[in-house]
Amino acid sequence: MSLDGRICVITGAAGRIGRAIVERFQQEKATVVAVDILSVSLPGVDNVICDQGDPSSIQALEQHLKQKYGRIDCLINNGALGGYTCPIHEKPLEEYDDVMRVNVRGPFLLIQAALRLHLSNPSKELSIINMASIAGHRPGAGNSVYSVSKHGLIGLTKAAASEYGGQGVRCNSISPGMMEVPNVQGISPERFEKGAETIPLSRRGKPVEIAELAVFLASEKASYINGADYLGEHYCTQHD
Ligand SMILES: NC(=O)c1ccc[n+]([C@@H]2O[C@H](COP(=O)([O-])OP(=O)(O)OC[C@H]3O[C@@H](n4cnc5c(N)ncnc54)[C@H](O)[C@@H]3O)[C@@H](O)[C@H]2O)c1
Repeated sequence: MSLDGRICVITGAAGRIGRAIVERFQQEKATVVAVDILSVSLPGVDNVICDQGDPSSIQALEQHLKQKYGRIDCLINNGALGGYTCPIHEKPLEEYDDVMRVNVRGPFLLIQAALRLHLSNPSKELSIINMASIAGHRPGAGNSVYSVSKHGLIGLTKAAASEYGGQGVRCNSISPGMMEVPNVQGISPERFEKGAETIPLSRRGKPVEIAELAVFLASEKASYINGADYLGEHYCTQHD
């Protein structure tokens, strides 16, 4: 499943899942452009520090990709904010704005940039992978804003898949269940433990297990997979 020679842009690369994806893609010989608002201290990556919700930051990233590589073969929209757990009537509007800016506007801007690059040099396929969440299917108690953002990202996945499928673009999403380290703040240890008990595989997922799926979706083996969402195993459970 080699990604040899592919130019792969991975956002949220300084985070837990992002780091695992970077390492797996490097093992598959991809050229990795590691994007994050924080610096990414991993060897062998082209690290671009970028605020993904800011159009001028994305413009600079697009320019960098154009000048250095002339194309993009894979975009993984993995960077995101988690939000806090509290009921809707207590949510500060700032949380809504911040989370939507990073989790929906960010991937939208990145997809726009990737499509512009691809359409100006459409010789190779472009695979877009959006990191959604189980919360994009079934909101957990208190994480309404994060859930709205991930529903939006799944919608964006389907829109891009249907608009550009005929132009060498595949767009899919992955919806992990809660991983070994959750990304929504304020989840009590009790709720975290209880959640794990209800998972049929009896444990939470590891970042590398998400990375394996991303490698597959980026590869030619997934050449007829477009507009799909890979739901985390945790979805089988009924309660948080
Ligand atoms: N960890 C989980 O349990 C879980 C479950 C379901 C879905 N997910 C999703 O998987 C992805 C990765 O999750 P994670 O647990 O590794 O999260 P994480 O918090 O460890 O990593 C997220 C990364 O996004 C970066 N980021 C935040 N704001 C940014 C901005 N404005 N511009 C650029 N980068 C920015 C952060 O710096 C961080 O490195 C996210 O999309 C998350 O929603 C995670």
